[in-house]
This record gives sequence, structure tokens and C-alpha cells, in this order.
Amino acid sequence: MLRRQPPSIILYGAVIALLAAFVIGCKPSDKSAAPSANNAKLKIGLSMDSLRVERWKRDRDLFIAKAESLGAEVFVQNADGDPIKQNAQAENLLTRGVDVLVVIPRDGVTAAQIVNAAHAENVPVLAYDRIIRDSDLDLYISFDNERVGYLQAEALTQVAPSGNYFLLGGAPSDNNALLLRAGQMRALQPLIDAGSIRIVGNQFTDNWEPNIALKHVENALTANQNRIDAVVASNDGTAGGAIEALRAQGLDGKVAVSGQDADLAACQRIVEGSQTMTVYKPLAPLAERAAELAVALARKEAVATEKTVANGKIDVPAVLLDPVVVTKENLDATIIGDGFHAVADVYANVSK
Ligand code: GAL
Repeated sequence: MLRRQPPSIILYGAVIALLAAFVIGCKPSDKSAAPSANNAKLKIGLSMDSLRVERWKRDRDLFIAKAESLGAEVFVQNADGDPIKQNAQAENLLTRGVDVLVVIPRDGVTAAQIVNAAHAENVPVLAYDRIIRDSDLDLYISFDNERVGYLQAEALTQVAPSGNYFLLGGAPSDNNALLLRAGQMRALQPLIDAGSIRIVGNQFTDNWEPNIALKHVENALTANQNRIDAVVASNDGTAGGAIEALRAQGLDGKVAVSGQDADLAACQRIVEGSQTMTVYKPLAPLAERAAELAVALARKEAVATEKTVANGKIDVPAVLLDPVVVTKENLDATIIGDGFHAVADVYANVSK
């Protein structure tokens, strides 16, 4: 029969028993620990800038579906536009023992810390759609963003071969915004040199925010007495802000406006006539190829790529996919045909 023990000894025993249960129940955080059944799966950390722009939810879902079909599990972190938070979240993913990090960097410069931290733990890093600068980045997959910019501006020159152009760039912290601008200028320079086109304004847009884009175009219209013939917008969100500013002056549909991402709102504007074009980047090939590359990196397999992209420190092995120009003329064959958007949604405001 248990002798009655003073309460303190019983309590002490209970605490010890609880602690023992807790320690036994914990998963080993040390990657070298013997993997239990569910640790046998490869672990992929997916670090995302934000989900605000429509396309990124698709990228995430397509990536996860493909990675899981390859037998991996994916841990997603969303930094909601905060580069400091993104670096901390990446550290958290490394602590959780991921075998590879896939990063959509909010800031291509500060994200170099993520590569350094991952490499300190022998974890490879794949930059997804946006390169990470000044680091020993393992792999980069995207579309050819300089070509995206070229296609944007070239399409506008077909509609407005002369006149006043306003350059509306993306986030200055996003290396893609700089590549887009380089491509846009490559398309415009011959017409500028010929005196046909004048650049009457040039802005970048923090965090690709449509409301900031709206303000930039409002100011440009005021500064140029509404005499603007084209707005070279670097994605559909900023194009939407620009068109709202044009609409306030009764200029929507009269000024050529570019875009990128084939957002639903942009496709609607294209069939309704207020946006000239978008650049469609089929996300399934991008996300699924990225998942294959992430699994290969996690398995420490050699990955062959045809291209490299300089990131300020090394020539990063790169996979670059081809973008597609979409206008009213080919939207059905591309966006609808691919099932990217439903015809009823795109034509919701106009009779098909
Ligand atoms: C860029 C990307 C664009 C657009 C933009 C806003 O990096 O290349 O397709 O998504 O971010 O998120």
C-alpha cells in the first residue's frame, strides 16, 4: 500500500513524469537523428514575399501539388512584404530541418542572408521567379524578365508609335523591376533616338502597390496637362492603378497601357478596351519545374541548366521560361484555352 507521501513529493514526481513524456514525444530537431516514418519525406521550405498579387496563390498551390506528387512535404511561410520577417522565417524553416529552401525574395539584396544561413547548414537554395543577389545562390528559375519588359514596350509602340510615354516601374527592391525596365528601354530606344517617342516621366512603385501607381500617374497627367499617349506599366496591379488615374480624366481606353501576370482584372480590362496587353507567364510550367528542381537539390543531385544569370557575385545556374504577349486578339486562345481564367469571368462586364 502506498504510504501517504507529503504533497510536495507527489507533485515533484508528477512534474518529472510530465517532463519525461514531453521529451520522449518530441521529434528530433537534429537533422542527423534517425528519421522516423514521416521524417523519411523530403522537407521543402517555401519562403514567399507575399500573397497580395493574385498570381502568387497559384504559384504556391501549383508548387505544393507537384512537390507532394514527388513525395516531398512543403512548409510555407508568407512574409507579407516584410524583408526582415522573411529572413527570420527562413531561419525558422532551417530550424525545422528543411532539406532545401525555395525563396521568392521580397528584397533581392537582403535575401542574400538567407542563402548564407542555409549554406551554413548545408541546405541549398532555389530562387523562384526573382533572383537573390550577391550570394552563392544554387539555382534560379523564372521567365526571361528582360524579354517581358521588351514585349510590354514593343506592344505599346504598335498602338502608339509616337508621343509621350510614362514609365511606371515595379518595386525598386525587386530585381525583376530593373530587368523589366532594361527590356522596356531596349524596345523604346530606337523610337526615342528617332524623336518619335518622348519619355515624360519615370517612377518605380514600392511593393508594386496599385495605389502608389495611381498617384504616380495622377501626378504625371497633371505635370503634362493630360498629354500622355502610353503608360509602360510593369505588371497588372500597377496597370490597374494607372488606368484608374486615366479614368478620372476620361482617358481610359485612349492611352495605351501595358501589364504582366494576366490577373483576372487585367484580362477584363483588355476585353473591355482600357488595357492594351498583359504578359502571360504560364505558372504551371514554372511552379512544377521549380518543384522538380527543389527535390533534386534536396537529394543533392546534380542539376543541368542551359543558362546562367549573373547576380553580382556568381553566374547562377538558371532555367528561364518564355513569356506570352496577350491582347484582345489572342486572349481566348491563350488565357481561356489554358484554363487560366474562365470565359464567363473574363467577359463578365461585356457581351462575348
Ligand atoms: C515580380 C514578378 C511579376 C509580378 C510582380 C508583383 O517579381 O516578376 O510577375 O508578379 O513581381 O508580384
